[in-house]
Amino acid sequence: MSRTPRQPVWPIYRRLLGYTARYRVFLGAALLGMLVEAGAGATFIWLMEPLTNRGFVQPEPQMAVLLPLAIIGLFVLRSLATFVTDYGMARTGRSVVRDLREEVLSKYLRLPSSQFDTEATPVMVSRLNFDTEQVTQASSEALKTLITDSLTIVYLLGLMLYMSVKVTLAMLLITPLIGLIVWYVGKRYRRISGGIQDGMGRMAASAEQSLSAQQDVKIHGAQELEISRYSGLANRILGLNMKVESTRAAASGLVQLLAALALSLIVAVATREALAGRLNAGQFISLMTAMMGIIPSLRRVTSVQTAVSRGVAAAERLFSILDAEEEVDDGTRPLQRARGELAFEHVSLRYRDQPGFALDDVSFVATPGTVTAIVGRSGSGKTSLVRLVPRFYEPSAGRILLDGVPLDEYRMSDLRRQIALVGQKVMLFDDTVAANIAYGSDADHAAIRAAAEAANAWEFIERLPQGLDTPIGENGALLSGGQRQRLAIARAILRDAPILILDEATAALDNESERLVQDALQRLMPERTTLVIAHRLSTIEHADQVLVLDQGRIVERGTHAELLAAGGLYAHLHSAQFRERQA
Ligand SMILES: Nc1ncnc2c1ncn2[C@@H]1O[C@H](COP(=O)(O)OP(=O)(O)OP(=O)(O)O)[C@@H](O)[C@H]1O
Ligand SMILES: [Mg+2]
Repeated sequence: MSRTPRQPVWPIYRRLLGYTARYRVFLGAALLGMLVEAGAGATFIWLMEPLTNRGFVQPEPQMAVLLPLAIIGLFVLRSLATFVTDYGMARTGRSVVRDLREEVLSKYLRLPSSQFDTEATPVMVSRLNFDTEQVTQASSEALKTLITDSLTIVYLLGLMLYMSVKVTLAMLLITPLIGLIVWYVGKRYRRISGGIQDGMGRMAASAEQSLSAQQDVKIHGAQELEISRYSGLANRILGLNMKVESTRAAASGLVQLLAALALSLIVAVATREALAGRLNAGQFISLMTAMMGIIPSLRRVTSVQTAVSRGVAAAERLFSILDAEEEVDDGTRPLQRARGELAFEHVSLRYRDQPGFALDDVSFVATPGTVTAIVGRSGSGKTSLVRLVPRFYEPSAGRILLDGVPLDEYRMSDLRRQIALVGQKVMLFDDTVAANIAYGSDADHAAIRAAAEAANAWEFIERLPQGLDTPIGENGALLSGGQRQRLAIARAILRDAPILILDEATAALDNESERLVQDALQRLMPERTTLVIAHRLSTIEHADQVLVLDQGRIVERGTHAELLAAGGLYAHLHSAQFRERQA
């Protein structure tokens, strides 16, 4: 995600608070609780005056009963208030995290594919998990400390002013200095913590990469390389963390020192006031207790600033995702079921930040009931071509028509419903076999079974411990490559869409399975438009037209027999493969 320049904190915080609006009952209760909590604390300190003067200096008998009762009452009230505050804040904060997570994930799924080329998936996942978590801390825990402690400070200052203006003023001399430190720490923190989170994402991405490719790492003996890449990132984070910690530690030490200075100033002024008869023992004890009560609150307020900043930095990143541009979907034409006539007109494609064209002036027509085979060397643009049909990417030039209408005039969801796609990388979900075949539809077991049989997948599904209801593990870890492909084909068959796209869909199958799947596809093909990318001859031989791609251009076209006779690139590729087969 491209980072927007740092925005001022307040608008971000306000937007974040906007998310709490739905939970304002809980938030309101929590705020009330904080008011009472801080008030009860201050009242207890105010009690120090009568406790000293009327309990000890000039003892009164009824105070021996009244004061203990007052203390119990105060703390019962305070405990209740604390519970209400904590519950209300947790409820609000946790709900906001959930809302943000849902919103960000659904936003991610609406971003254009090109976004996924520039941001690694683990970084996205860390945004979902980590950034949202940080946001709660800002929106609940930090807010709670901020409000309760600020209130405590205000109450206690009021109490002190009431006891003695002079002594209090002496202390106030020092507060602006503390404020200055708080401000500086917050600013620095916000800057560094952004770097930390980015680094964490990159570190996770690097670890995920080396762990998921552990076999490649081992066979290349690249452990050292992977470790050094990872430790480079880890060291950078260590450095940043130490910067944050040292700033925080230095600041909190300094704040305490200043508070102690204030204390000694108070003592000096207070003793002079006492000599002049303007301050009695009870008032002094009260003042001192208030002063002591303020120090931890002040310290918490300074450290909470960092949590707030961290939350705001995280919120800023989340908002930049939420504000990112989505896939363009401004077509209005509804489409129930297309006939399936697909026409490419001078289509070119250039990936973002890529110098050359992946597709260059590609034109062809694929009519319903026919099979168009696309062949070419690796990297010639085959996958790029078929990706344009569901509008995963937009052509840089030219246009693509479905039933004579440009693709972008259709509603995106309608268009994509017309397409069944078996990609080069088979994606399976951590669910049962049946759920993977039915994915996104509510087909019954009979239909699922029929699709599985057509895809020649039934023979292995049958042998699984729980048949269709067997869980297949994360991304189908428990299945072989060919089994995964057959599941994907079954999914496409079940979808029964007018356009069928197969990108190397049978590459991982043995000849026998491939022939069976081929038969099934053959039966499906008459009613639909099929684009198939394949190296296998059996698929291509039956195709109605073969397009030969080279460096993004269609260099030859015709039927298998015509192309063989022409003796060009196709004939060359074919003879190379034929020799391979013989070997
Ligand atoms: N998401 C992407 N971003 C940038 N460039 C890409 C992207 N996908 C593919 N390319 C580039 O576009 C060109 C065509 O790639 P494409 O995947 O279409 O080839 P292919 O014919 O399907 O190859 P293969 O047979 O190996 O699957 C390649 O040079 C590739 O590097
Ligand atoms: Mg490809």
